[in-house]
Amino acid sequence: MTQKLPNFEDIPVIALGRTDSTNAEGHRRAEAGAAHGTLLWATEQTAGRGRRGREWISKPGNLYASLVLRPDCEAKRATQIAFVAALAVSGFLGDYFSEAKRLQHKWPNDVLVDGRKLAGILAESRMGKGAALEWLVLGVGVNVDSYPEDVEWPAISLREIGGKPAEIAELVEAFGRAFTFWYNTWQKNGFESIREAWLDRAVGLGEPIRVRLQQETIEGLFTGLDEDGTLLVLKAGETVPFRVTAGDVFPTAVLRNH
Ligand code: BTN
Repeated sequence: MTQKLPNFEDIPVIALGRTDSTNAEGHRRAEAGAAHGTLLWATEQTAGRGRRGREWISKPGNLYASLVLRPDCEAKRATQIAFVAALAVSGFLGDYFSEAKRLQHKWPNDVLVDGRKLAGILAESRMGKGAALEWLVLGVGVNVDSYPEDVEWPAISLREIGGKPAEIAELVEAFGRAFTFWYNTWQKNGFESIREAWLDRAVGLGEPIRVRLQQETIEGLFTGLDEDGTLLVLKAGETVPFRVTAGDVFPTAVLRNH
């Protein structure tokens, strides 16, 4: 890999106002040839989407942004970039919250405070020729002013936790800068440094978790991440961890407090 992101000052931030979804717009622009590092920002989304086909409620006052990336890497490494994004999000939010150590990561890419979801990340990509990645659109939603009440996993907002007030435009720029830093760290040092930094804030590491997969729900100890970001869960009575590449994680320690 040789492709570094330009410094943030060079990244164009495109303000869309109200749009369907910054990820959908990212797809359209990626197909039309948008440059690596194009950052799209919306004040409101009419069709915001979350992981696993869920809706992402997108009222004005929160942050909705997507980055168009053209990483020079194999498609199978695309999941690593979502961990890069989680570090960028928890990193920049730490500057707007006096108790940054309360910010945690929940697999795969959520950012929580006290077990409640403050931000979510959605990576969508398109394969190029062979095993290469053609583009990846990385969407970030942060509950700045409000949060949805009626959701499976409890949410929270920056305002509710007493975060430092800031214009959304400023937060988008802060995200862009933090992402540039972590993306370049990933390029320079590889995924290991990202994995370690992500695990430093991982909720429920070494503790029991429940994981809802497509066909079943499993339980075990969350023992770590492998070299691709796959979640490792050690089931009772087994010696080799079960590998989870897609699913919904419920750390039982967090569930007990809700
Ligand atoms: C999740 O936790 O389910 C991921 C949520 C991602 C939401 C963001 S908001 C900006 C971008 N545009 C979308 O439609 N979704 C992502």
